[in-house]
Amino acid sequence: MKVLVLGSGAREHALLSALARDREVEALAAAPGNPGIAAQAECLAVDPLDGDAVAALAVSWGADLVVIGPEAPLVAGVADAVREAGVACFGPSRAAAQLEGSKAFAKQIMAAAGVPTALAHVCRTVDEVAEALDALGAPYVVKDDGLAAGKGVVVTDDRAAALTHAAACLARGGDAQVVVEEFLDGPEVSLFCITDGAVVVPLAPAQDFKRLLDGDAGPNTGGMGAYSPLPWAPMSLTDEVVARVAQPTVDEMARRGTPFAGLLYVGLALTARGLRVVEFNARFGDPETQVVLARLQTPLASVLHAAATGTLGDLAPLRWTPDAAVAVVLAAPGYPASTQTGGVLRGLDDAAAVPGATVLHAGTAERDGDVVVSGGRVLSVVGTGPDLSAARATAYDALARIHLDGGQHRSDIAAAAAEVHA
Ligand code: AMP
Ligand code: GLY
Repeated sequence: MKVLVLGSGAREHALLSALARDREVEALAAAPGNPGIAAQAECLAVDPLDGDAVAALAVSWGADLVVIGPEAPLVAGVADAVREAGVACFGPSRAAAQLEGSKAFAKQIMAAAGVPTALAHVCRTVDEVAEALDALGAPYVVKDDGLAAGKGVVVTDDRAAALTHAAACLARGGDAQVVVEEFLDGPEVSLFCITDGAVVVPLAPAQDFKRLLDGDAGPNTGGMGAYSPLPWAPMSLTDEVVARVAQPTVDEMARRGTPFAGLLYVGLALTARGLRVVEFNARFGDPETQVVLARLQTPLASVLHAAATGTLGDLAPLRWTPDAAVAVVLAAPGYPASTQTGGVLRGLDDAAAVPGATVLHAGTAERDGDVVVSGGRVLSVVGTGPDLSAARATAYDALARIHLDGGQHRSDIAAAAAEVHA
């Protein structure tokens, strides 16, 4: 099988690394890829948002399967264009990707499917927002309705700050809307569910660290680290999420004539009143993918191909290593408010030589023979080991060998979970 992966982050690097371990995969390409990915796959230039260009590339390269990493191409309809060109594609249609593309749409689907989630008001004016804030009370949760690369959500006790964020989102005009939500308290879990539009196959749950600083302080980011498995979570969690969230959502999308095939990312809060959906995404999560795929033993291409071709029901149960995995993100100086690019990364080979460690590239570029920073989240350093403590030690050992002036990382990824014995 020849597989083309669209995207250029550490999530795509993790997907390509897993596909590279799969003996059924005879050739791998990434578009556009990055310098780390280039060691594993041919990197092809394309505008990932241009469906016709991606479809033409898939045909000319001879892809048997296209895997779309990020959300923006999905929401732009790139999966539809690839399928119309006759190539199997892992990733939902433009219509189905609205589950991530519009938070208001996701809320409608959840209501219709009876999926537990936060109470929400969809608002089109600042006055409506003020009313909703007062109805729900503090802490306030205000979300941009559309795609915002992890920066659309503000959670605050400060009513004025909540209003300011809402006003900024609404100021875009057009059909801009914001969602004001009930605050959900409790640990968060990410569960990736692979689906062909009917059958749902869950992957292993993971936890992501969204805030920039240790102790969950600082601003929200795209994600500063992740780990899997979750020794503190109930054994029944995955089955419960499939039964109460993923299957009803997939069934509702099919009932509406817009089946969701691809990866349904269920972001959950485990509250005192039970599980609640915080968000849906229409693609693999970053950095959770880096730890989940590090543990998957089943060849990945067969799973993604089955989802893309409506044959997930025939797939044997997934196999997992008993190992744990921890990913720590190295972010650029100034991230997320004012990312500074251009800094030189040193020690990457040293880090990758640590047994059990993998260095996955995200915001990197090549300049005069050096690897330099080109984006906010620069690398994901992944450690694996027999338990979370060992996996953490490996990830942080490898990270310590990498030097970037002003580079930022959290030092507490998976620290609390490593203290819990399942
Ligand atoms: P989202 O983009 O919807 O995932 O939101 C980003 C982050 O904001 C989530 O991972 C949560 O940490 C936080 N968040 C979102 N919605 C809520 C909520 N209703 N209550 C508490 N925190 C939330
Ligand atoms: N880890 C959060 C996300 O991928 O949206």
